[in-house]
Amino acid sequence: MRRRHSTTSGPTRVLGSLLLVAAAGVTAVGAAPAPAAEAATTPLNRVVPAPAEVRPGGRPYRLTWATGVHVDGSAEVRRIGEYLAGILRPSTGYRVPVTEHGAGGIRLHLSDGRFGAEGYRLTSGPAGVTVTASAAAGLFHGVQTLRQLLPASVERGSVQPGPWRIAGGTVEDRPRYAYRGAMLDVARHFFTVGQVERYIDELALYKINTLHLHLSDDQGWRIAVDSWPRLAAYGGSTQVGGGRGGYFTKADYRHIVRYAASRYLEVVPEIDMPGHTNAALASYAQLNCDGTAPPLYTGTRVGFSSLCVPKQVTYDFVDDVVRELAALTPGRRLHIGGDEAHSTGHADYVEFMDRVQRVVARYGKTVVGWHQLTGATPAKGALAQYWGLDGTSATEKARVAEAARNGTGLILSPADRVYLDMKYTAGTGPGTRWAGLVEVRRSYDWNPGSYLPGVPASAVRGVEAPLWTETLTRSSEIEYMAFPRLPGAAELGWSPAATHDWDAYKVRLAAQGPRWDALGMSYYKSPQVPWPAG
Ligand code: ACM
Repeated sequence: MRRRHSTTSGPTRVLGSLLLVAAAGVTAVGAAPAPAAEAATTPLNRVVPAPAEVRPGGRPYRLTWATGVHVDGSAEVRRIGEYLAGILRPSTGYRVPVTEHGAGGIRLHLSDGRFGAEGYRLTSGPAGVTVTASAAAGLFHGVQTLRQLLPASVERGSVQPGPWRIAGGTVEDRPRYAYRGAMLDVARHFFTVGQVERYIDELALYKINTLHLHLSDDQGWRIAVDSWPRLAAYGGSTQVGGGRGGYFTKADYRHIVRYAASRYLEVVPEIDMPGHTNAALASYAQLNCDGTAPPLYTGTRVGFSSLCVPKQVTYDFVDDVVRELAALTPGRRLHIGGDEAHSTGHADYVEFMDRVQRVVARYGKTVVGWHQLTGATPAKGALAQYWGLDGTSATEKARVAEAARNGTGLILSPADRVYLDMKYTAGTGPGTRWAGLVEVRRSYDWNPGSYLPGVPASAVRGVEAPLWTETLTRSSEIEYMAFPRLPGAAELGWSPAATHDWDAYKVRLAAQGPRWDALGMSYYKSPQVPWPAG
């Protein structure tokens, strides 16, 4: 086996959740943090993503047995306080009460509008730490910063020695982009609710606020649709390689949406159309132009399937699927795919995308599509997700840029930068390499604001790191591909362009390694990153 996960054993703690999975009789192997590193207080700027502004100064705050979390009266702030206490209690061994009264300790506090929808201020000194925000999401992001300022061992599920200090000073922070996403392909291989939750917790640590779920593809249909039950029951019954597959019931899906919301992520569901639809075509013969259902598909080719554009039943199907999915989606957006429709004629593609976009609007959602949507007519307010690479033709890039100048917002997911399924090097596995080998520095070292020629900076709405799963079946593999590249994409989405600097970033990134060890996560120990010894 060529996989080189840095850690795969030791107690696994589901990040940030209160759930502890005790691995009976197993002790952490090779993951003990260096005592010297533990004793030092983490500098206030050693955070990923880099905060907008950091003003170090004054003496640190030190958590003690008397530390409590003081919250404003709202139930939501209390819930964030309980989330934080849930991280602190097992490793500090302190009681960490969450109360609405009291002075000192850690205070979570909502105030006026100056911090925006997701920004926050964190101040730290000997008397305590206060996180202030204008909205709960900002408090939650501030809590992630606070977490990173504590020693990595705070993430462990058993009592650790400490000391638990937070450097003195002030962090004032807010995101560069409103859209900071990660995509998980649950179609090529199915992942369970628990696996999706685990990834959500890992994403939340880096202030990602959008989880894009790729719910359908040639190899599987992964969401129950009551009006077309064979989609999930039959279309979801296998996966790449021929395994059992699976699908989310509506209750499962609602659970994921709620869990994501509790970590301040919005779920964007994707039904990929008109190509990437073999699982649907196999489930219902009438969706095929020739009325014959193809067999289920468990390989990894792309571009061979298409919904039947001229048939009315296609639009009855789309209407039902979009209606049911929109009803499960409190978020604003619904992704309709539109990529690699190589078996759909151009005129048919344009007509189909027009009609489907109208259906999405009818059910009150905003369209997201892969950037091939710009080859049709993007609806007002639509977002196009660019997944090209350096070698993408100038014509294709120009088409995307023209759409952006005409008002289509862009989400940037360049495949040779932030496709997390690309191998890091020829020697690392799993993954694929059609977009090239993507080491950690290459993944980080680009500027979303000036990436595509001819695109006004204001058209860029954010960054998303997709993870396709043709070669992945386990959480440890998701983690190995996402870490350490995902934090780089998160930083490109969050941090001001002025903070961008590989040499500084790699030091902040290196400090995350012991945290991932403590959390029982797998990651690629890239030689480009100066990981601490130990
Ligand atoms: C894609 O990678 N086909 C969006």
